[in-house]
Amino acid sequence: MKYDIKNLTLQEKIRMLNGVGAWRIYNANGKVKEVFMSDGPNGVHRRDDITKASGPATAVPNMVTVANTWNRELAYLDGETIAQDCIEYNIDILLAPGVNIKRTPLCGRNFEYVSEDPYLAGELAAQFVNGVQSQGIGTSLKHFCANNREEQRCFQSSEVDERTLYEIYMKPFETVVKKANPWTVMCSYNPVNGVYTSENKKLLKGVLRDKFGFDGLIMSDWGAVHSCYKAAKATLDLEMPYNKTSVAEMTEAYEKGLISEEEIDACIINILKLIEKTECDKKVKYDKKTRHENAVEIANEGIVLLKNDNVLPLKDGNILMAYPDEPAPLGGGGSAEVKTDFVQTNLAQLVKDALPNANVTSYNRWSKRGLLVEAYDADTIVYRVNASAEAENVDRTTLRLPYTQEEIILALAKTNKKVIVVIYGGSAVDVSPWADKVSGILFCGFCGEASNEALADILCGKVCPSGKLSETFPVSVEDTPSGLTRGNTFTEWYKEGIFVGYRYFDEYNIPVMYPFGYGLSYAKFEYSNLEIEKISETDYKVSYDITNVSNVDGKEISQVYVKDVFAMVSRPQKELKGFSKDLIKAGETKRVSVMLNSESFAYYNVSYDKWFVENGAFEIMVGASSQDIKLVGKININLPEETQQSTDTRDW
Ligand code: GLC
Repeated sequence: MKYDIKNLTLQEKIRMLNGVGAWRIYNANGKVKEVFMSDGPNGVHRRDDITKASGPATAVPNMVTVANTWNRELAYLDGETIAQDCIEYNIDILLAPGVNIKRTPLCGRNFEYVSEDPYLAGELAAQFVNGVQSQGIGTSLKHFCANNREEQRCFQSSEVDERTLYEIYMKPFETVVKKANPWTVMCSYNPVNGVYTSENKKLLKGVLRDKFGFDGLIMSDWGAVHSCYKAAKATLDLEMPYNKTSVAEMTEAYEKGLISEEEIDACIINILKLIEKTECDKKVKYDKKTRHENAVEIANEGIVLLKNDNVLPLKDGNILMAYPDEPAPLGGGGSAEVKTDFVQTNLAQLVKDALPNANVTSYNRWSKRGLLVEAYDADTIVYRVNASAEAENVDRTTLRLPYTQEEIILALAKTNKKVIVVIYGGSAVDVSPWADKVSGILFCGFCGEASNEALADILCGKVCPSGKLSETFPVSVEDTPSGLTRGNTFTEWYKEGIFVGYRYFDEYNIPVMYPFGYGLSYAKFEYSNLEIEKISETDYKVSYDITNVSNVDGKEISQVYVKDVFAMVSRPQKELKGFSKDLIKAGETKRVSVMLNSESFAYYNVSYDKWFVENGAFEIMVGASSQDIKLVGKININLPEETQQSTDTRDW
């Protein structure tokens, strides 16, 4: 190591355990480099320590939209792109990605998170981290763990059984640690099963470090430390941000023998290792124009076509754009907010440019009557809506759109014209009051500065929609496991256990509006010729043909789900264990292969305290969504008897 801990005094080490200002690591009187960090997952939110002003940066699509691309390469590109602004702003660590599971669509920060499914969340977040770190910028995988709502996030304990923690809420962290080796992990605010994660040694050391193999730095969320010496003893290395009482508290704890110099040194070594990592060469790879183009490419693949009664892509005729001057929200609020200096071209202008033979008009005044008069002469109306404001520190109280927006949709639907509703939001929206009354629905998530270009590309058919939902859209919030409840201020009991998202709706046979993994295309794909090649008892190569039977080139996301048919524990009807996104040209047939390994079949066995594959039959399902299974195969796993728990009774 370049920095020798022996060069630091005890006072300097104690001071180093706590940040400088809001965004920096202490440089020990100039003995080490000062490290600077900034948010966030949707682009650089760089706040000046003093002015708190945030400099402009590329506002890439929010993670909700990146997730709906189901594209590992684009998740990597997303991270790479954000890293460019980090390099220019001399930011060493990007405080991202957030991989908290979307347990309830009401969570106000879902726009920053990836999915209701731990496999999809881990796979895409790992690529994001690899993308950022490939540029010499560190990441902070957050918020570890079970921070799945904003309500009382700093105090209310998430009450989760151990198997559910491993299989659902910690799984994305395990995947990213193993596949991308993030430089840092950020603990969450909330207690888990009664102990704050900032001082939860079982989670931080027992699981994250010892089981998952994380060897980087653990930092706190901002203000999440309640006792700095208990945190350090739990192997949380760095308390953020600066806290004026921590040095005195830590010094007193040391003098009382509550914490040893060895325990302090263990944290300091992780801090020094991190500082050294940040001293690598960094070179800007993408200029600003290219960063914007990357954002458009990601948004193009993250927009999900939910309904299309032969109304899209737009071609010609009288097209009324309702409120195109109203800018689409770049993203959600809070620490993940990004300010861009990119000026988007007006959506109506982009549609006009793309459809020279169409008669494209706009309506921007706030009179519903005026809009209906304008709609009278239109053939097709495009109306963009925003789910209620989503931001850090606040949860939604409904999945419905704001009343005025629903009213306008219903009024437009009564005109018997073709109405296309374009939704911006960080998570599922309750569209049940009006979905059957309109002709087309697109869910954009939040597309950042690419919003207008990407939407115009999809609306006008320049791009064939290929996004699919990374979370279920329920018929109503009451159908979700936690409904409108979010704990009792002291605890929130995750009573549904592992049955989160589609696992829940499958298990209890609850109809949904749009299932996990669902998304339409302008192309049409057919699946055939499933083959499951056995490589070992727990390694299989799943192959199948996808044929594009349309005359439109398109990308298809095929999904591989696994079901343990007979298990000694309750297991979901299906679990996503593989996916592939493939460009398949009109008329082309492509042979797609997905690999399954022991992790694809295992569940977390709390009796053995490890992931465990139980012998027996498994179904392998290939689907276009979790509820559109196209092909099913069966395998039988037969591991040596001595590796298994006894199941059959003895013959007496
Ligand atoms: C916030 C967020 C965290 C963010 C940090 C710094 O409270 O929970 O995601 O990175 O503080 O802004």
